[in-house]
Amino acid sequence: MFARRVMVVGTGYVGLTTGACLASLGHEVVCADIDEAKVGRLRRGVVDIVEPGLAELVAEQTSAGRLTFVVGAGAALAAFEDGRPAEVLFLCVPTPMGAGGVADLRAVESVIEEVGAELAAGTVVVNKSTVPVGTAARTAELLERTDVAVVSNPEFLREGSAVKDFLGPDRIVVGSDNQDAAERVAALYARLGAPTVLTDAASAELMKYAANCFLAMKLSYVNAMAELCERVGADIGDVTEGIGYDRRIGQAFLSPGPGWGGSCLPKDTHALLQVADSADFEFRLLRATIDTNTRQRQRIVDKVRLAVTGKRTGSLSRVRLALLGLTFKAGTDDLRDSPALAIAALLRQAGAELVGFDPAFVEGKDGAAPPTEIDGVPLAADAVSAAQGAEAVLVLTEWPMFRTLDWSVIATAVKRPIVIDTRNIVDPATLRRAGLTAVGLGRRGEG
Ligand code: UGA
Repeated sequence: MFARRVMVVGTGYVGLTTGACLASLGHEVVCADIDEAKVGRLRRGVVDIVEPGLAELVAEQTSAGRLTFVVGAGAALAAFEDGRPAEVLFLCVPTPMGAGGVADLRAVESVIEEVGAELAAGTVVVNKSTVPVGTAARTAELLERTDVAVVSNPEFLREGSAVKDFLGPDRIVVGSDNQDAAERVAALYARLGAPTVLTDAASAELMKYAANCFLAMKLSYVNAMAELCERVGADIGDVTEGIGYDRRIGQAFLSPGPGWGGSCLPKDTHALLQVADSADFEFRLLRATIDTNTRQRQRIVDKVRLAVTGKRTGSLSRVRLALLGLTFKAGTDDLRDSPALAIAALLRQAGAELVGFDPAFVEGKDGAAPPTEIDGVPLAADAVSAAQGAEAVLVLTEWPMFRTLDWSVIATAVKRPIVIDTRNIVDPATLRRAGLTAVGLGRRGEG
Protein backbone atom coordinates (compact mmCIF):
# COMPACT_ATOMS: atom_id res chain seq x y z
CA MET A 1 0.00 0.00 0.00
CA PHE A 2 1.15 3.53 -0.73
CA ALA A 3 0.93 5.96 2.15
CA ARG A 4 -0.75 9.08 0.87
CA ARG A 5 -0.70 12.69 2.01
CA VAL A 6 -4.26 13.39 3.02
CA MET A 7 -5.80 16.67 4.05
CA VAL A 8 -9.11 16.56 5.93
CA VAL A 9 -11.13 19.75 6.23
CA GLY A 10 -13.58 19.78 9.12
CA THR A 11 -12.96 17.99 12.43
CA GLY A 12 -16.53 17.10 13.35
CA TYR A 13 -17.25 13.49 14.05
CA VAL A 14 -16.91 12.46 10.40
CA GLY A 15 -13.75 14.49 9.75
CA LEU A 16 -11.97 13.58 12.94
CA THR A 17 -12.83 9.90 12.62
CA THR A 18 -11.75 9.94 8.97
CA GLY A 19 -8.48 11.71 9.80
CA ALA A 20 -7.55 9.52 12.76
CA CYS A 21 -8.54 6.28 11.03
CA LEU A 22 -6.75 7.10 7.76
CA ALA A 23 -3.65 7.93 9.82
CA SER A 24 -3.99 4.55 11.54
CA LEU A 25 -3.97 2.97 8.06
CA GLY A 26 -0.54 4.53 7.53
CA HIS A 27 -1.38 7.75 5.67
CA GLU A 28 0.07 11.16 6.57
CA VAL A 29 -2.95 13.20 7.60
CA VAL A 30 -3.39 16.92 8.28
CA CYS A 31 -6.78 17.91 9.71
CA ALA A 32 -7.97 21.50 9.39
CA ASP A 33 -10.75 23.31 11.18
CA ILE A 34 -11.74 26.97 11.32
CA ASP A 35 -12.39 26.73 15.07
CA GLU A 36 -9.08 27.79 16.60
CA ALA A 37 -10.00 26.75 20.13
CA LYS A 38 -11.01 23.30 18.92
CA VAL A 39 -7.74 22.85 17.04
CA GLY A 40 -5.92 23.92 20.21
CA ARG A 41 -7.78 21.27 22.20
CA LEU A 42 -7.14 18.58 19.58
CA ARG A 43 -3.43 19.39 19.65
CA ARG A 44 -3.50 18.81 23.40
CA GLY A 45 -5.28 15.52 22.74
CA VAL A 46 -8.68 16.75 23.96
CA VAL A 47 -11.50 15.28 21.86
CA ASP A 48 -14.88 16.94 22.46
CA ILE A 49 -16.94 14.22 20.82
CA VAL A 50 -18.12 11.21 22.81
CA GLU A 51 -17.00 8.45 20.46
CA PRO A 52 -15.54 5.19 21.78
CA GLY A 53 -11.87 4.75 20.88
CA LEU A 54 -11.55 8.07 19.05
CA ALA A 55 -9.62 10.01 21.70
CA GLU A 56 -7.18 7.11 22.07
CA LEU A 57 -6.71 6.83 18.30
CA VAL A 58 -6.15 10.59 17.95
CA ALA A 59 -3.54 10.51 20.73
CA GLU A 60 -1.81 7.46 19.26
CA GLN A 61 -1.68 8.79 15.70
CA THR A 62 -0.65 12.29 16.81
CA SER A 63 2.28 10.94 18.78
CA ALA A 64 3.21 8.63 15.89
CA GLY A 65 3.53 11.83 13.82
CA ARG A 66 0.98 10.77 11.23
CA LEU A 67 -1.79 13.12 12.37
CA THR A 68 -1.55 16.90 12.81
CA PHE A 69 -4.08 19.68 13.32
CA VAL A 70 -4.05 23.16 11.82
CA VAL A 71 -6.34 26.17 11.77
CA GLY A 72 -7.91 26.71 8.35
CA ALA A 73 -7.72 24.77 5.10
CA GLY A 74 -5.07 27.15 3.74
CA ALA A 75 -2.65 26.24 6.54
CA ALA A 76 -3.16 22.53 5.86
CA LEU A 77 -1.75 22.90 2.36
CA ALA A 78 1.64 23.82 3.76
CA ALA A 79 1.65 21.43 6.70
CA PHE A 80 2.94 18.21 5.12
CA GLU A 81 6.43 16.95 5.68
CA ASP A 82 9.07 18.59 3.48
CA GLY A 83 6.40 21.02 2.19
CA ARG A 84 5.07 18.43 -0.25
CA PRO A 85 1.47 18.98 -1.47
CA ALA A 86 -1.60 17.05 -0.33
CA GLU A 87 -2.62 14.30 -2.74
CA VAL A 88 -6.17 13.92 -1.48
CA LEU A 89 -8.43 16.53 0.10
CA PHE A 90 -11.39 15.24 2.13
CA LEU A 91 -14.28 17.65 2.57
CA CYS A 92 -15.89 16.78 5.90
CA VAL A 93 -17.68 20.04 6.60
CA PRO A 94 -21.27 20.34 7.79
CA THR A 95 -24.08 20.24 5.23
CA PRO A 96 -27.05 21.15 7.43
CA MET A 97 -30.63 21.09 6.24
CA GLY A 98 -31.36 24.54 4.86
CA ALA A 99 -34.60 26.11 3.71
CA GLY A 100 -37.14 23.70 2.20
CA GLY A 101 -35.12 20.62 3.15
CA VAL A 102 -32.28 21.49 0.75
CA ALA A 103 -28.77 20.81 2.09
CA ASP A 104 -26.84 24.00 2.75
CA LEU A 105 -23.54 23.80 0.86
CA ARG A 106 -21.96 27.04 1.98
CA ALA A 107 -19.25 25.31 4.00
CA VAL A 108 -18.18 23.21 0.99
CA GLU A 109 -18.18 26.29 -1.19
CA SER A 110 -16.07 28.30 1.21
CA VAL A 111 -13.38 25.59 1.40
CA ILE A 112 -13.20 25.45 -2.38
CA GLU A 113 -12.99 29.22 -2.49
CA GLU A 114 -10.18 29.22 0.06
CA VAL A 115 -7.93 26.47 -1.32
CA GLY A 116 -9.29 25.42 -4.71
CA ALA A 117 -6.81 27.47 -6.70
CA GLU A 118 -3.86 26.41 -4.51
CA LEU A 119 -4.25 22.65 -4.90
CA ALA A 120 -1.44 20.88 -6.74
CA ALA A 121 -2.27 19.43 -10.14
CA GLY A 122 -3.54 15.86 -9.76
CA THR A 123 -5.06 16.38 -6.29
CA VAL A 124 -8.27 14.47 -5.71
CA VAL A 125 -11.04 16.33 -3.87
CA VAL A 126 -13.26 13.90 -1.97
CA ASN A 127 -16.71 14.70 -0.74
CA LYS A 128 -17.39 12.77 2.43
CA SER A 129 -20.27 14.87 3.74
CA THR A 130 -23.80 13.79 2.86
CA VAL A 131 -24.67 16.06 -0.03
CA PRO A 132 -27.39 16.31 -2.64
CA VAL A 133 -27.01 14.41 -5.87
CA GLY A 134 -25.07 16.62 -8.22
CA THR A 135 -22.74 18.12 -5.59
CA ALA A 136 -19.63 16.45 -7.00
CA ALA A 137 -20.48 17.99 -10.36
CA ARG A 138 -21.14 21.34 -8.67
CA THR A 139 -17.85 21.11 -6.73
CA ALA A 140 -16.01 20.47 -9.99
CA GLU A 141 -17.66 23.56 -11.47
CA LEU A 142 -16.67 25.68 -8.49
CA LEU A 143 -13.11 24.41 -8.73
CA GLU A 144 -12.82 25.47 -12.35
CA ARG A 145 -9.88 23.11 -12.77
CA THR A 146 -9.49 20.25 -15.19
CA ASP A 147 -6.40 18.94 -13.38
CA VAL A 148 -8.17 18.30 -10.05
CA ALA A 149 -10.70 15.43 -9.91
CA VAL A 150 -13.75 15.32 -7.65
CA VAL A 151 -14.86 12.09 -6.02
CA SER A 152 -17.85 11.22 -3.87
CA ASN A 153 -16.99 8.84 -1.02
CA PRO A 154 -19.93 8.84 1.39
CA GLU A 155 -19.45 7.68 4.95
CA PHE A 156 -21.70 5.18 6.68
CA LEU A 157 -20.55 5.77 10.26
CA ARG A 158 -22.93 5.56 13.18
CA GLU A 159 -22.49 7.86 16.12
CA GLY A 160 -21.23 5.81 19.01
CA SER A 161 -19.42 3.28 16.80
CA ALA A 162 -17.78 5.53 14.22
CA VAL A 163 -14.23 4.20 14.66
CA LYS A 164 -15.41 0.60 14.54
CA ASP A 165 -17.57 1.33 11.49
CA PHE A 166 -14.71 3.12 9.71
CA LEU A 167 -12.17 0.35 10.31
CA GLY A 168 -14.63 -2.50 9.70
CA PRO A 169 -16.95 -1.15 7.02
CA ASP A 170 -19.68 -3.16 5.30
CA ARG A 171 -18.57 -1.49 2.08
CA ILE A 172 -16.58 1.38 0.64
CA VAL A 173 -18.35 3.50 -1.96
CA VAL A 174 -16.37 5.65 -4.36
CA GLY A 175 -18.01 7.51 -7.19
CA SER A 176 -16.45 9.70 -9.81
CA ASP A 177 -16.53 10.42 -13.47
CA ASN A 178 -12.74 10.13 -13.27
CA GLN A 179 -11.97 6.41 -12.94
CA ASP A 180 -8.32 6.90 -12.02
CA ALA A 181 -9.17 9.33 -9.19
CA ALA A 182 -11.85 6.93 -7.88
CA GLU A 183 -9.35 4.08 -7.82
CA ARG A 184 -6.81 6.21 -5.98
CA VAL A 185 -9.37 7.01 -3.28
CA ALA A 186 -10.46 3.36 -3.04
CA ALA A 187 -6.79 2.42 -2.58
CA LEU A 188 -6.62 4.52 0.60
CA TYR A 189 -8.85 1.89 2.21
CA ALA A 190 -7.27 -1.17 0.57
CA ARG A 191 -5.98 -2.53 3.90
CA LEU A 192 -9.54 -2.83 5.20
CA GLY A 193 -10.37 -5.49 2.62
CA ALA A 194 -13.99 -4.30 2.37
CA PRO A 195 -16.21 -4.78 -0.68
CA THR A 196 -15.78 -1.68 -2.81
CA VAL A 197 -18.40 -0.20 -5.09
CA LEU A 198 -16.85 1.93 -7.81
CA THR A 199 -19.46 3.99 -9.55
CA ASP A 200 -20.28 7.40 -10.94
CA ALA A 201 -20.54 10.41 -8.63
CA ALA A 202 -24.32 10.78 -8.76
CA SER A 203 -24.89 7.12 -7.86
CA ALA A 204 -22.48 7.35 -4.92
CA GLU A 205 -24.24 10.48 -3.67
CA LEU A 206 -27.65 8.88 -4.03
CA MET A 207 -26.46 5.68 -2.33
CA LYS A 208 -25.92 7.52 0.93
CA TYR A 209 -29.47 8.84 0.96
CA ALA A 210 -30.80 5.52 -0.26
CA ALA A 211 -29.17 3.73 2.69
CA ASN A 212 -30.29 6.17 5.40
CA CYS A 213 -33.81 6.45 4.02
CA PHE A 214 -34.11 2.68 3.79
CA LEU A 215 -33.07 2.43 7.44
CA ALA A 216 -35.62 5.11 8.37
CA MET A 217 -38.28 3.23 6.42
CA LYS A 218 -37.38 0.00 8.23
CA LEU A 219 -37.88 1.73 11.58
CA SER A 220 -41.14 3.44 10.61
CA TYR A 221 -42.36 0.05 9.43
CA VAL A 222 -41.43 -1.54 12.75
CA ASN A 223 -43.06 1.26 14.75
CA ALA A 224 -46.25 0.94 12.70
CA MET A 225 -46.13 -2.83 13.10
CA ALA A 226 -45.79 -2.39 16.88
CA GLU A 227 -48.95 -0.32 16.86
CA LEU A 228 -50.73 -3.01 14.88
CA CYS A 229 -49.49 -5.63 17.38
CA GLU A 230 -51.22 -3.71 20.15
CA ARG A 231 -54.45 -3.70 18.23
CA VAL A 232 -54.47 -7.40 17.35
CA GLY A 233 -52.90 -8.76 20.54
CA ALA A 234 -49.57 -9.78 18.98
CA ASP A 235 -46.03 -9.13 20.25
CA ILE A 236 -43.58 -6.98 18.28
CA GLY A 237 -40.52 -8.64 19.84
CA ASP A 238 -41.61 -12.04 18.57
CA VAL A 239 -42.69 -10.66 15.20
CA THR A 240 -39.36 -8.89 14.54
CA GLU A 241 -37.36 -11.87 15.77
CA GLY A 242 -39.29 -14.09 13.41
CA ILE A 243 -38.98 -11.88 10.36
CA GLY A 244 -35.34 -11.04 11.17
CA TYR A 245 -34.25 -14.66 10.63
CA ASP A 246 -35.07 -14.12 7.00
CA ARG A 247 -31.64 -13.09 5.74
CA ARG A 248 -33.24 -10.76 3.23
CA ILE A 249 -34.63 -8.78 6.18
CA GLY A 250 -31.98 -9.29 8.89
CA GLN A 251 -32.24 -8.84 12.67
CA ALA A 252 -30.55 -5.44 12.84
CA PHE A 253 -32.39 -2.15 13.07
CA LEU A 254 -35.72 -3.65 14.02
CA SER A 255 -36.24 -2.25 17.52
CA PRO A 256 -39.36 -0.14 17.96
CA GLY A 257 -38.83 3.18 19.66
CA PRO A 258 -40.03 6.74 20.15
CA GLY A 259 -39.20 7.47 16.50
CA TRP A 260 -35.89 7.84 14.71
CA GLY A 261 -33.85 10.98 15.20
CA GLY A 262 -30.29 12.28 15.23
CA SER A 263 -28.39 14.46 12.85
CA CYS A 264 -28.67 12.13 9.87
CA LEU A 265 -31.90 10.21 9.32
CA PRO A 266 -34.28 13.20 9.68
CA LYS A 267 -32.06 15.44 7.55
CA ASP A 268 -31.48 12.83 4.86
CA THR A 269 -35.11 11.73 4.53
CA HIS A 270 -36.15 15.35 3.98
CA ALA A 271 -33.28 15.94 1.59
CA LEU A 272 -34.12 12.89 -0.52
CA LEU A 273 -37.74 13.96 -0.63
CA GLN A 274 -36.47 17.26 -1.96
CA VAL A 275 -34.30 15.49 -4.54
CA ALA A 276 -37.38 13.52 -5.63
CA ASP A 277 -39.56 16.65 -5.75
CA SER A 278 -37.07 18.46 -7.93
CA ALA A 279 -36.92 15.44 -10.22
CA ASP A 280 -40.72 15.59 -10.44
CA PHE A 281 -41.05 12.25 -8.70
CA GLU A 282 -43.61 11.74 -5.99
CA PHE A 283 -41.84 9.51 -3.47
CA ARG A 284 -44.92 8.51 -1.47
CA LEU A 285 -43.19 5.72 0.41
CA LEU A 286 -40.61 8.16 1.76
CA ARG A 287 -43.23 10.71 2.71
CA ALA A 288 -45.15 8.03 4.59
CA THR A 289 -41.89 7.04 6.33
CA ILE A 290 -41.47 10.61 7.60
CA ASP A 291 -45.14 11.04 8.54
CA THR A 292 -45.16 7.77 10.45
CA ASN A 293 -42.18 9.03 12.42
CA THR A 294 -43.79 12.36 13.25
CA ARG A 295 -46.92 10.54 14.35
CA GLN A 296 -44.87 8.20 16.55
CA ARG A 297 -44.03 11.06 18.90
CA GLN A 298 -47.67 11.92 19.34
CA ARG A 299 -48.42 8.26 19.84
CA ILE A 300 -46.04 8.14 22.81
CA VAL A 301 -47.77 11.20 24.30
CA ASP A 302 -51.15 9.49 23.81
CA LYS A 303 -49.82 6.42 25.59
CA VAL A 304 -48.69 8.54 28.53
CA ARG A 305 -52.07 10.24 28.64
CA LEU A 306 -53.92 6.93 28.68
CA ALA A 307 -51.61 5.31 31.22
CA VAL A 308 -51.72 8.23 33.64
CA THR A 309 -55.34 9.36 33.34
CA GLY A 310 -57.05 6.18 32.17
CA LYS A 311 -58.62 8.19 29.34
CA ARG A 312 -57.51 8.91 25.78
CA THR A 313 -58.48 12.55 26.27
CA GLY A 314 -57.35 12.92 29.89
CA SER A 315 -55.44 16.02 30.93
CA LEU A 316 -51.72 16.01 31.64
CA SER A 317 -51.86 19.45 33.19
CA ARG A 318 -49.45 19.61 36.18
CA VAL A 319 -48.73 15.90 35.92
CA ARG A 320 -45.15 15.31 36.94
CA LEU A 321 -43.22 13.01 34.59
CA ALA A 322 -39.68 11.65 34.81
CA LEU A 323 -37.88 11.37 31.48
CA LEU A 324 -35.01 8.87 31.44
CA GLY A 325 -32.73 9.52 28.48
CA LEU A 326 -32.75 12.68 26.38
CA THR A 327 -30.14 11.97 23.70
CA PHE A 328 -31.33 10.71 20.30
CA LYS A 329 -29.94 7.26 21.06
CA ALA A 330 -27.69 5.60 23.64
CA GLY A 331 -23.92 5.93 23.60
CA THR A 332 -23.81 9.58 22.55
CA ASP A 333 -24.35 13.02 24.06
CA ASP A 334 -25.95 14.20 20.81
CA LEU A 335 -29.33 15.87 21.29
CA ARG A 336 -29.90 16.88 17.67
CA ASP A 337 -33.38 15.94 16.48
CA SER A 338 -33.79 13.78 19.54
CA PRO A 339 -37.22 12.10 19.67
CA ALA A 340 -36.98 12.35 23.48
CA LEU A 341 -36.82 16.14 23.28
CA ALA A 342 -39.62 16.30 20.70
CA ILE A 343 -41.78 14.21 23.03
CA ALA A 344 -40.77 16.40 25.98
CA ALA A 345 -41.94 19.47 24.05
CA LEU A 346 -45.31 17.85 23.30
CA LEU A 347 -45.74 16.80 26.93
CA ARG A 348 -44.89 20.30 28.13
CA GLN A 349 -47.41 21.77 25.69
CA ALA A 350 -49.96 19.43 27.26
CA GLY A 351 -49.16 20.98 30.64
CA ALA A 352 -46.97 18.24 32.15
CA GLU A 353 -44.13 19.07 34.54
CA LEU A 354 -40.94 17.34 33.47
CA VAL A 355 -37.73 16.25 35.16
CA GLY A 356 -35.06 14.55 33.11
CA PHE A 357 -32.04 12.37 33.68
CA ASP A 358 -29.46 11.34 31.12
CA PRO A 359 -26.18 9.56 31.92
CA ALA A 360 -24.46 11.59 29.17
CA PHE A 361 -24.85 14.76 31.23
CA VAL A 362 -23.85 13.61 34.68
CA GLU A 363 -20.43 15.17 34.27
CA GLY A 364 -19.66 18.55 32.76
CA LYS A 365 -17.28 18.99 29.85
CA ASP A 366 -13.74 20.29 30.21
CA GLY A 367 -14.03 20.60 33.99
CA ALA A 368 -17.24 22.69 33.76
CA ALA A 369 -20.29 21.88 35.88
CA PRO A 370 -22.87 19.59 34.27
CA PRO A 371 -25.89 21.31 32.70
CA THR A 372 -28.89 21.87 34.97
CA GLU A 373 -31.42 21.74 32.16
CA ILE A 374 -31.71 20.68 28.54
CA ASP A 375 -34.20 22.34 26.24
CA GLY A 376 -36.22 23.56 29.21
CA VAL A 377 -36.21 20.13 30.91
CA PRO A 378 -34.62 20.45 34.38
CA LEU A 379 -32.07 17.73 35.01
CA ALA A 380 -31.80 15.50 38.08
CA ALA A 381 -28.48 13.99 39.16
CA ASP A 382 -29.72 10.41 38.88
CA ALA A 383 -32.72 8.34 37.83
CA VAL A 384 -34.12 8.00 41.35
CA SER A 385 -34.07 11.76 41.93
CA ALA A 386 -35.80 12.28 38.57
CA ALA A 387 -38.49 9.77 39.54
CA GLN A 388 -39.21 11.47 42.89
CA GLY A 389 -42.94 12.24 43.02
CA ALA A 390 -43.48 11.34 39.33
CA GLU A 391 -46.83 10.07 38.09
CA ALA A 392 -45.05 8.13 35.35
CA VAL A 393 -41.45 7.32 34.43
CA LEU A 394 -40.69 7.36 30.70
CA VAL A 395 -37.68 5.50 29.28
CA LEU A 396 -36.83 7.39 26.10
CA THR A 397 -33.27 6.38 25.25
CA GLU A 398 -31.93 2.82 25.28
CA TRP A 399 -29.04 3.46 27.69
CA PRO A 400 -28.02 -0.01 29.04
CA MET A 401 -27.96 1.38 32.61
CA PHE A 402 -31.76 1.74 32.52
CA ARG A 403 -32.10 -2.04 32.25
CA THR A 404 -30.14 -2.57 35.43
CA LEU A 405 -31.50 0.28 37.56
CA ASP A 406 -32.75 -0.74 40.96
CA TRP A 407 -36.38 -0.38 39.98
CA SER A 408 -37.56 -1.26 43.49
CA VAL A 409 -35.92 1.97 44.71
CA ILE A 410 -37.59 3.89 41.87
CA ALA A 411 -40.90 2.30 42.96
CA THR A 412 -40.52 3.90 46.39
CA ALA A 413 -39.72 7.30 44.89
CA VAL A 414 -42.61 7.66 42.43
CA LYS A 415 -46.07 8.96 43.22
CA ARG A 416 -47.71 6.45 40.86
CA PRO A 417 -46.11 3.18 39.73
CA ILE A 418 -46.21 3.58 35.95
CA VAL A 419 -43.22 3.00 33.65
CA ILE A 420 -43.62 3.76 29.96
CA ASP A 421 -40.72 2.11 28.22
CA THR A 422 -40.61 3.51 24.68
CA ARG A 423 -37.58 1.36 23.84
CA ASN A 424 -38.84 -1.96 25.23
CA ILE A 425 -35.54 -2.41 27.05
CA VAL A 426 -36.50 -2.93 30.67
CA ASP A 427 -37.73 -6.42 31.49
CA PRO A 428 -41.46 -6.06 32.29
CA ALA A 429 -41.23 -8.90 34.84
CA THR A 430 -38.54 -6.97 36.75
CA LEU A 431 -40.80 -3.93 36.79
CA ARG A 432 -43.78 -5.96 37.98
CA ARG A 433 -41.71 -7.53 40.78
CA ALA A 434 -40.82 -4.01 41.87
CA GLY A 435 -44.54 -3.18 41.99
CA LEU A 436 -44.46 -1.10 38.82
CA THR A 437 -46.82 -1.31 35.85
CA ALA A 438 -44.96 -1.72 32.56
CA VAL A 439 -46.18 -0.11 29.36
CA GLY A 440 -44.06 -0.79 26.31
CA LEU A 441 -44.59 -0.64 22.57
CA GLY A 442 -46.46 -3.41 20.78
CA ARG A 443 -46.20 -5.86 23.64
CA ARG A 444 -48.65 -8.66 24.16
CA GLY A 445 -51.17 -8.04 26.90
CA GLU A 446 -50.31 -4.39 27.48
CA GLY A 447 -52.68 -2.96 24.86
C1 UGA B 1 -27.12 6.84 10.81
C2 UGA B 1 -26.85 5.56 9.99
O1 UGA B 1 -27.18 4.41 10.76
C3 UGA B 1 -25.38 5.50 9.59
O2 UGA B 1 -25.15 4.35 8.77
C4 UGA B 1 -25.01 6.77 8.81
O3 UGA B 1 -23.66 6.78 8.42
C5 UGA B 1 -25.29 7.98 9.70
O4 UGA B 1 -26.69 7.98 10.06
C6 UGA B 1 -24.92 9.22 8.92
O5 UGA B 1 -25.59 9.51 7.93
O6 UGA B 1 -23.92 9.86 9.24
P1 UGA B 1 -26.78 7.58 13.36
O7 UGA B 1 -27.45 8.87 13.01
O8 UGA B 1 -25.54 7.61 14.18
O9 UGA B 1 -26.40 6.75 12.04
O10 UGA B 1 -27.88 6.77 14.16
P2 UGA B 1 -28.53 5.32 14.08
O11 UGA B 1 -27.78 4.37 14.91
O12 UGA B 1 -28.78 4.95 12.67
O13 UGA B 1 -29.93 5.64 14.78
C7 UGA B 1 -30.87 6.53 14.18
C8 UGA B 1 -32.12 6.60 14.99
O14 UGA B 1 -32.86 5.37 14.89
C9 UGA B 1 -31.92 6.82 16.48
O15 UGA B 1 -32.87 7.74 16.94
C10 UGA B 1 -32.12 5.44 17.08
O16 UGA B 1 -32.52 5.45 18.41
C11 UGA B 1 -33.21 4.89 16.18
N1 UGA B 1 -33.24 3.41 16.12
C12 UGA B 1 -32.19 2.71 15.63
C13 UGA B 1 -34.38 2.76 16.55
O17 UGA B 1 -35.38 3.38 17.00
N2 UGA B 1 -34.43 1.39 16.48
C14 UGA B 1 -33.39 0.67 15.98
O18 UGA B 1 -33.50 -0.60 15.90
C15 UGA B 1 -32.24 1.33 15.55
